[in-house]
Amino acid sequence: MSEESDLAEVGPWAEQKLAALASYLNYYTTVLKNQVWCRTIYLDAFAGGGKASLRSVTKHPLVETPLWDDERPAEHTQIVVGSPRRALDLANPFDRYVFVDADPKRVSQLYHLQSEYEGRRRIDVRQGSAEDQITWLLKQNISKTTHRGVAFLDPFGAHLPWTSVQALAATRIFEAIINFPLHMCINRLATLNPAIPSNWRDQLDSFFGPGWYDEVYETTEGLFGAATRKRADATDRLLRFYRANLKNAFGHVSQPMLIRNTRGSPLYYIIWAGPHRKGLEGADYVLKTGERLQKRA
Ligand SMILES: C[S@@+](CC[C@H](N)C(=O)[O-])C[C@H]1O[C@@H](n2cnc3c(N)ncnc32)[C@H](O)[C@@H]1O
Repeated sequence: MSEESDLAEVGPWAEQKLAALASYLNYYTTVLKNQVWCRTIYLDAFAGGGKASLRSVTKHPLVETPLWDDERPAEHTQIVVGSPRRALDLANPFDRYVFVDADPKRVSQLYHLQSEYEGRRRIDVRQGSAEDQITWLLKQNISKTTHRGVAFLDPFGAHLPWTSVQALAATRIFEAIINFPLHMCINRLATLNPAIPSNWRDQLDSFFGPGWYDEVYETTEGLFGAATRKRADATDRLLRFYRANLKNAFGHVSQPMLIRNTRGSPLYYIIWAGPHRKGLEGADYVLKTGERLQKRA
């Protein structure tokens, strides 16, 4: 089996997210590079394997299922450099990297990455849920007087518990860059019918914490009594709600950068949150520029 066949597939829009991440991390590490008291940490809590293959937009019908891997057309094997490598290759690297993934295949790819950077970067690879590994990291020997860090939280579903985000915020050490999967996932879990399947409701409870349900559904009195419906502006309300909670938890929250697919449909937002105004200025600049470039593309 070729190495490429073991890679996750991503759409072309992943590049916009990753370019924004790299640009902000470059800003952050440049601002902190002369602070001799400060040890920097990069946490990638949904790290993936370090690289992915670009999903082709138009697949040739005859080569959809190739007999041998080397029959794959070049368009199937274009490589996208993932978030861990972008962070490792910064001009002013972090002092420590923590890469987490729940999938053993991605974790084994992360171990390869660790060997590749042996002696040049300090890397912990951790298999498990982001939730458990954030708890683990916050029990390590790190403190507000000696450390600063960035947590990249990039789930493709609602797998990021609000309590984990709050725990990072409470340290006053970490900033967070969050993939808020509003259109890809959240909107589908918050069904039109207010009687959401209980496991979906549990996921949303965990993702948002209390209060999200009333942002999505409203009960009104009608001729036939009270009826509960999904609000027409539920999507906008959820974005406002999540950003307001991030602001409360961290102190500052950026404008959201909307990522769209190649047909222009909205997919998810990238949002920064952190304790310092200087971080906010950098994040707003990077995310606004990224959105402008997307619109022009
Ligand atoms: C969107 S991908 C990450 C892509 C990566 N950040 C990048 O940009 O290169 C999400 C990753 O999260 C992992 N994952 C899913 N649920 C998880 C969880 N609860 N905790 C940690 N990792 C999880 C998946 O195995 C997948 O590799």
